[in-house]
Amino acid sequence: MQDLTPDRASLEAIEIASRDEISALQLKQIKWSLRHAYDNVLHYREKFDAAGIAPGDLNELSDLANFPFMVKDDLRRNYPFAMFAVPRQQVIRIHASSGTTGSPTVVGYSKNDIDNWAHLMARSIRAAGGKPGEIVHVAYGYGLFTGGLGAHYGAEHLGCTVIPVSGGATQRQVQLIEDFKPDIIMATPSYALTLADEFERLGLDARNAALKVGLHGAEPWSQGVREEIERRFDMHAIDLYGLSEVMGPGVSCECVETKDGLHFWEDHFYPEIIDPESGAVLADGERGELVITSLTKEAQPIIRYRTRDLTRLLPGTARSMRRMEKVTGRSDDMMIIRGVNVFPSQIEVEILKDQRLTPHYFCELAKQGQLDSLTVMVEARPEISRQDKDAALELLAQNIKTYTGVSVTVSVGEAGSVERSMGKAQRIKDLRPKN
Ligand code: DLL
Repeated sequence: MQDLTPDRASLEAIEIASRDEISALQLKQIKWSLRHAYDNVLHYREKFDAAGIAPGDLNELSDLANFPFMVKDDLRRNYPFAMFAVPRQQVIRIHASSGTTGSPTVVGYSKNDIDNWAHLMARSIRAAGGKPGEIVHVAYGYGLFTGGLGAHYGAEHLGCTVIPVSGGATQRQVQLIEDFKPDIIMATPSYALTLADEFERLGLDARNAALKVGLHGAEPWSQGVREEIERRFDMHAIDLYGLSEVMGPGVSCECVETKDGLHFWEDHFYPEIIDPESGAVLADGERGELVITSLTKEAQPIIRYRTRDLTRLLPGTARSMRRMEKVTGRSDDMMIIRGVNVFPSQIEVEILKDQRLTPHYFCELAKQGQLDSLTVMVEARPEISRQDKDAALELLAQNIKTYTGVSVTVSVGEAGSVERSMGKAQRIKDLRPKN
């Protein structure tokens, strides 16, 4: 893999500013954002009033802890446009997340919001080792999902040549990568692996493709998946994080020279980590739920949004801005099996340790009498013998039991038997009866 460390001269001053400068900017912007939300969005006014707190009560950053949280349901309740803080005519773009239950959640952007988003995505691509003039293959879905258009505007803003492929039509994607020779690919990690399989199926070696770096996100992925993507494409695989409620991709991103967690773009977002049970703010370094406050958003300011994503904050390294550790999972992805909490990411780590298995899997939850049962569906690589397959199956069940404390059934199918992801992979199939 090439050394893609960006020139220090190409970084923005704020990326390498002192912590004091960053905090001063955050304090100024948080005051603006609270005031903007309170004055223009009924939801915030009512929530703050009920809590007996006003924007003027914030004197230092830690005072933010006194303000009420916001959750996804608040957005649902205000569907479609009641969270806008500017007249609808000033909202130049709308995205939405489908959500599996209830109404979708809507997010609106002003002209400045779109410009800031493009700017932060461009910063993320540069942090990943991308440069102006390079070719970017965008395989995130275009449409109401923020992935495609978010990546697209960022790559254009950086001065790249963008190929807006979107998700799906995998064979054609391989053809386009062969023909157009993109330097950068933007895709979910699970779809990057689907593409790697397609290269193989077509008798091509993805390592010979021009790709130098991939920016992967929109779903949790383990270090093992990173190594697999890097090995199969001979490129850097960089973690990119974001969520539609807050903006979309580009809230935080890893730097190619360190790959040690995702630098949070703290000039536009203020992160906190809380104890998901008590809601108390935790110190940097402690693991908990990520809460985000927007500092510059005009159309839809977001104050103390509970992301459900579990991580921790760490000091800056390649940039002055703090890092968040790779997200291990969402609190709502947690499976409770006979009282033990397990995340798909913990199962993934064990699968990726065994070279006899492919990295494609899902977890099936069912009810056996009163008890929950978990079956992990995996695939053996095509060249594996029956004997090796059985051994892999036994070892995986044993390792999952050792590392999570849960007894699971492992089912190993032929290569290709687990449905391939075209975007976000579905890791949990819940067959338990709904009450
Ligand atoms: O997934 C935005 C995005 C697009 C991010 C492309 C990165 C790349 P939503 O559909 O609203 O937005 O889903 C947001 O996805 O709360 C996390 O649970 C998860 N997620 C996003 N990025 C990562 C990541 C987009 N790098 C939800 N690692 C978030 C782990 C991630 N989980």
